[in-house]
Amino acid sequence: MLITDAEVVKQKEILPGFYRMALSAGEAANYAKPGQFLHVRCGETLDPLLRRPVSIHAVDREKGEISLFYRVVGRGTALLAVKEKGDRLNLLGPLGSGFTMPGNSGRVAVVAGGIGIAPLYFLLQELSGLKIHADVFTGAATKKQLFFTSEIKALGHSVFPATDDGTAGYRGTVVNLFEQNPADRVYSCGPAGMLKSLCRVIRKHGIWGEVSLEERMGCGVGACLSCACKTVSEGENYRYRRVCVEGPVFPAGEVVWE
Ligand SMILES: Cc1cc2nc3c(=O)[nH]c(=O)nc-3n(C[C@H](O)[C@H](O)[C@H](O)COP(=O)(O)OP(=O)(O)OC[C@H]3O[C@@H](n4cnc5c(N)ncnc54)[C@H](O)[C@@H]3O)c2cc1C
Ligand code: FES
Repeated sequence: MLITDAEVVKQKEILPGFYRMALSAGEAANYAKPGQFLHVRCGETLDPLLRRPVSIHAVDREKGEISLFYRVVGRGTALLAVKEKGDRLNLLGPLGSGFTMPGNSGRVAVVAGGIGIAPLYFLLQELSGLKIHADVFTGAATKKQLFFTSEIKALGHSVFPATDDGTAGYRGTVVNLFEQNPADRVYSCGPAGMLKSLCRVIRKHGIWGEVSLEERMGCGVGACLSCACKTVSEGENYRYRRVCVEGPVFPAGEVVWE
């Protein structure tokens, strides 16, 4: 785990309220694995006191850069949005466990709901580097919220969009679309409701799956227990695990949805 004082090298609002920010993050870029996150000090003062967790969205190891993709929802993310090229940002991480990379057999799918594409894009970069093709199912309310379609195709993957209003691709949920074209292995991130229904599909079809969860976080390093989530485990009915340390990526079959 590292603490990095990173410089903002690029910040772009790609849709109102949605930003992509590139940071010069040296060593952290070398260590980062898909599915991990950074705990970001968003402001210069003690307000907000707590860091905010943001997924590692993309990595350029040659340049030593890490990118974040985030939506402004409150004070912390609003402070991130006013950062400009040359500003500095204090980062703790890479933190958490990442996705388990596949071997070379079987069909790989990625299912992203809205901003859930954030950590999955880095996974797709790494899969591309390993010459592993993925079918990428992206879901959004409407066409303009389907992020990074051309970049994902440029990495060599196939993209299958689903929109609630039918403005692009399949009209309906991305989970329904995935169920019509299941794979051997699936990686996902998105809203809790979407992940819950995807986990049902994964169980029904006996697919290997991993999902990345979001919980409010305090320390980000396993000390405060504010991020506990309910999981099943062998020999017990269930146990609580820390999303910041044992997660944010969990085997799909282990998450208890309530
Ligand atoms: C491991 C992890 C990775 C994440 N990666 C990303 C990412 O790549 N991009 C991104 O945009 N967001 C990501 N998030 C969510 C992000 O951390 C929150 O949006 C952020 O902390 C909100 O801070 P704020 O001060 O702007 O809002 P606050 O003022 O703290 O909250 C504003 C609203 O957002 C809700 N909220 C805040 N945090 C969370 C959370 N963790 N889960 C669900 N609802 C929340 C609050 O309930 C409230 O309604 C991630 C969260 C986790 C745990
Ligand atoms: S945020 Fe403190 S234990 Fe996870």
